[in-house]
Amino acid sequence: MLLSLPILIFTALGAIASPVTSPKTLHSKRIASPSWNAHRRLEPHHTLPLKIGLTQSNIDSLPSLLSSVSDPLSPTYGQHYTPSEIASIFAPSDESIGAVKSWLHSEGIHPSRIRLSDTKAFLSFEASVEEAERLLETEYHIFKHEDGSENVGCHEFSVPEHLVPHIDLITPTINVARMTTRQPEALKKRGIFTPASASSLMLLPKTNGELANADAVSPTSTATCDQFITPACLRALYQITRKPTETKRNTLGVVELTPQSFLQGDLDLFFRNFSPSTMGEKPILVSIDGGVPSLNATAGFNINGESDLDLQVTMSLTSPQPVQLYQTGDNIEGGSFNNYLDALDGTFCTFEGGDNPNFDGIYPDPAPGGFKGPESCGIVKPANVISVSYSGDESTFPASYQQRECAEFGKLGMMGVSVLYSSGDSGVGGRNGRCLTANGTESVNGTRFSPMFPLGCPFVTAVGATQVNPNATVHDPESACMQVIFSGGGFSNVFEIPSYQEKAVNNWFREFPPPFTSAQFNNTRKARAYPDISANGANYVIAVDGSFFLVFGTSASTPTFASILTLINDARLSIGKRPVGFINPVLYSDLFEGAFHDVTSGTNPGCGTPGFSAVKGWDPVTGLGTPNFDEMVARWLILP
Ligand SMILES: *[C@@H]1O[C@H](CO)[C@@H](O)[C@H](O)[C@H]1NC(C)=O
Ligand SMILES: *[C@@H]1O[C@H](CO)[C@@H](O)[C@H](O)[C@H]1NC(C)=O
Ligand SMILES: *[C@@H]1O[C@H](CO)[C@@H](O)[C@H](O)[C@H]1NC(C)=O
Ligand SMILES: *[C@@H]1O[C@H](CO)[C@@H](O)[C@H](O)[C@H]1NC(C)=O
Ligand SMILES: *[C@@H]1O[C@H](CO)[C@@H](O)[C@H](O)[C@H]1NC(C)=O
Repeated sequence: MLLSLPILIFTALGAIASPVTSPKTLHSKRIASPSWNAHRRLEPHHTLPLKIGLTQSNIDSLPSLLSSVSDPLSPTYGQHYTPSEIASIFAPSDESIGAVKSWLHSEGIHPSRIRLSDTKAFLSFEASVEEAERLLETEYHIFKHEDGSENVGCHEFSVPEHLVPHIDLITPTINVARMTTRQPEALKKRGIFTPASASSLMLLPKTNGELANADAVSPTSTATCDQFITPACLRALYQITRKPTETKRNTLGVVELTPQSFLQGDLDLFFRNFSPSTMGEKPILVSIDGGVPSLNATAGFNINGESDLDLQVTMSLTSPQPVQLYQTGDNIEGGSFNNYLDALDGTFCTFEGGDNPNFDGIYPDPAPGGFKGPESCGIVKPANVISVSYSGDESTFPASYQQRECAEFGKLGMMGVSVLYSSGDSGVGGRNGRCLTANGTESVNGTRFSPMFPLGCPFVTAVGATQVNPNATVHDPESACMQVIFSGGGFSNVFEIPSYQEKAVNNWFREFPPPFTSAQFNNTRKARAYPDISANGANYVIAVDGSFFLVFGTSASTPTFASILTLINDARLSIGKRPVGFINPVLYSDLFEGAFHDVTSGTNPGCGTPGFSAVKGWDPVTGLGTPNFDEMVARWLILP
């Protein structure tokens, strides 16, 4: 959209000229990690590559900017921003740059030593340990990881009071930066092939084993959808009738974190049995940070299950639409959400300090066999719909890390991208069914509900899971999924409730007060609630490593809903309209009343409780319900 809207009148931080210096005050403190311990003081002869990440402008306005293009009542609905408009709206102000430079100069860092990054996001310079400790009133230590690797960092740091609003973060400080390379052999010995980044985000689909008689499952009949979900079942359940026509202009991206990998032979096997018209199609590989499918046909369900599932579902439901595979991370470090986001938006690579070595792959990867870079920054235009069947536990990521990533999801929404995440498979519990203690940490003995990451981010669309009940048909109402997995749902401990869902969530609290207290979840009605929507997640017949398996999970419901949105975009593109972009304000709007199949039975057990119940209207088990394609597309064709 044109830069004529309110964005130009936003003022930079503070109108009065800043002082050069002021008393120092604490900026950030390190969150204790049991795996990393301060080992010894950093020797004074080292130099530190200090990077000061500057605060983005207008970040507080992101919710209203996003709302202006995604709220169906907004006069500028659908007038998405271009990537360069986004970059200039959020670039740090000249005032921030000037204030930090003046301070450094006054502390004896000559301006010729200081470099401003191209994106204006960073000031960087080489500092002696003595200089860095004086500037930041801190002490630098070598931290040692239990796997033997060493990083440099400090427990906390301070900056002049007047600069706190201008500085997002400084590295290396409280988030350890890597000094030595990772030691893949040491990791492997401990059974950890991928780093925390990928393994803490892995939410694998579940299976109850190989299916002996897949050949007996009809590709066209919907008589056995209570036992076997096929593309024909999904089309019947959700009134999916459209065959895409805008396949050259439309895009759908599926994120896979290495070492998760698909096999073309599995796609061929699935298409031959259940989607003959898709036979021979391949995903378009977008290799991010060296990501390539591993092509190991005996790696097993836990390596090939997720990618096979995601691609078989999306490619068959949207055929002949080409599907982009965002294969993220090399085979040593793996990848994270931040890694694929870097690839979609070059400004995110450095935004607020860039990736966090505790959670993200850091590229180039110096380890033998690692991806030698350069890091994938802005290498691909984001697809109109992005489907991500991975999630982690909110409690294991610092709030600042989550907020940084969440802002990026908001920016993608401003650009007209729909980002879908699976809501988790452990009901109100965390991954592996773990719950929280009273102080918010995860424990096998925890009894507090454990929400998932990044589902708390109000700028992603959270997709829960449903099932066709035993002996029911595709014409009967579905229930919340209670076979093998339970639909993830609940309330964030990090993010506030967005305005678009206030009415629906307040209505649920009023009409269906849950039998839990503040001891189980944030029941103030002020927390972001999820999921937003759901789709079938039980009994998918999926080809993995040459055999068919029955697969369960929000890992299945998410690509199904992503396919439906892609078909809706196809319909909009065919009459000259833009893709739907960030959909949540539309889903919860009055216009979309009646566009879903409300799900009113089943619960999402966890943490020693039966969980929440699916009820009339929105609920924290199945959200607003499952999609009715015909109803949704009709409404979306009315919107500008
Ligand atoms: C494929 O995966 C299996 C199971 O993990 C493993 O034993 C085998 O070594 C792998 N093959 C290759 C070529 O990596
Ligand atoms: C939180 O509580 C658990 C058990 O109640 C305890 O083991 C842990 O040390 C506490 N953590 C913090 C950071 O206080
Ligand atoms: C969980 O509770 C059991 C029984 O009270 C106790 O033995 C165990 O140490 C606890 N585990 C943790 C991690 O707190
Ligand atoms: C489904 O139908 C079969 C055969 O009629 C019956 O044995 C079974 O109990 C039914 N299951 C349920 C959950 O109703
Ligand atoms: C509940 O969530 C809101 C919004 O994030 C927050 O302001 C409030 O402090 C939370 N309450 C508790 C008890 O955690």
